[in-house]
Amino acid sequence: MSEAAIKYRLIKKEKHTGARLGEITTPHGTIQTPIFMPVGTQATVKSLSPEELKEMNAQIILSNTYHLWERPGDDLVAEAGGLHKFMNWDRPILTDSGGFQVFSLAKLRDINEQGVNFRSNLNGAKLFLSPEKAIHIENNLGADIMMSFDECPPFFESYDYIKKSVERTSRWAERGLNAHRNPKTQGLFGIVQGGGHKQLRQQSARDLTAMDFAGYSIGGLSVGESKSEMNHVLEFTTPMLPENKPRYLMGVGSPDALIDGAIRGVDMFDCVLPTRIARNGTCMTSHGRLVVKNAKFARDFRPIDENCNCYTCRNFTRAYVRHLFKADETFGLRLTSYHNLYFLINLMKQVREAIKNDELLDFKEAFFEQYGLNVA
Ligand code: GUN
Ligand code: ZN
Repeated sequence: MSEAAIKYRLIKKEKHTGARLGEITTPHGTIQTPIFMPVGTQATVKSLSPEELKEMNAQIILSNTYHLWERPGDDLVAEAGGLHKFMNWDRPILTDSGGFQVFSLAKLRDINEQGVNFRSNLNGAKLFLSPEKAIHIENNLGADIMMSFDECPPFFESYDYIKKSVERTSRWAERGLNAHRNPKTQGLFGIVQGGGHKQLRQQSARDLTAMDFAGYSIGGLSVGESKSEMNHVLEFTTPMLPENKPRYLMGVGSPDALIDGAIRGVDMFDCVLPTRIARNGTCMTSHGRLVVKNAKFARDFRPIDENCNCYTCRNFTRAYVRHLFKADETFGLRLTSYHNLYFLINLMKQVREAIKNDELLDFKEAFFEQYGLNVA
């Protein structure tokens, strides 16, 4: 496997925590970890151009198998020359497998050993996804990093159900690995499930690390459990994963969870949170969340975050951005989306710097104090 698509290099471990400084080399370039990945579900990070994403130093973005399969179709994307060409993004891309989207979006799903039957949430059509089909679609999309087709059970499902689900996810992972056509240009990750149970996380990790995946994702978190429950699961799960491969915590993107995840040895994160809340006028700032539509900002001519150096904060005021939201002007949500992504990308840059200097816990304390959270 010397010609693997994905290579992880562990640069250093932080002295006082489980945090890792590293880099992942992909066919479209090398990314610095820990990293936050903006989400571009429909082959676009909503409202932002590739140039803007590069300007804010986004190193890799995420897209979704499920959405692109339904529309415009993975065969069309392949015909365009793959997802990178189709959306004009020449840096790394990661695609989620569709498993999670089927469970969170689709109605009337029926899950069996072969795969999942469900109805389209676009037009109600009957659809079927399996491990082989998800990998086929991901091969057509051509992302640098692909996810296995998994089941993401509810965190508080019964132990017996989650055990059956973990076993099926392991069988699905193996089927996906066997169906993968482009191992030299696309790396495939396995997804560790197991809810809140150490024993099941152990079983899942043991099954998946026995197979040759390019990296390991931690799924089934940030689905309604508390922050302390998530941290607890991370604490015992990351040590079950190999040191020489990247670890990706799926669907996590609040500033405190990014720092807490990095402390427990997570390398990669993604979430729709920053762009989703931006579109209703909520900004992440060094002093916590700021709802720019609030009346109190009508005559506030300061930037959204006085400590931020992004395009939005260098050029526009709270009063102006509030006005755009009040007037339903789309430029407003572009400005807040830009700011929120810049904020998380910059946060991870500071986390990497803190790991370098062995001062991540001090950084966390200072950040949480300003952000308005208690250090747990
Ligand atoms: N996104 C957030 N959580 C998950 C998960 O458990 N599985 C997959 N495939 N995607 C996710
Ligand atoms: Zn800003």
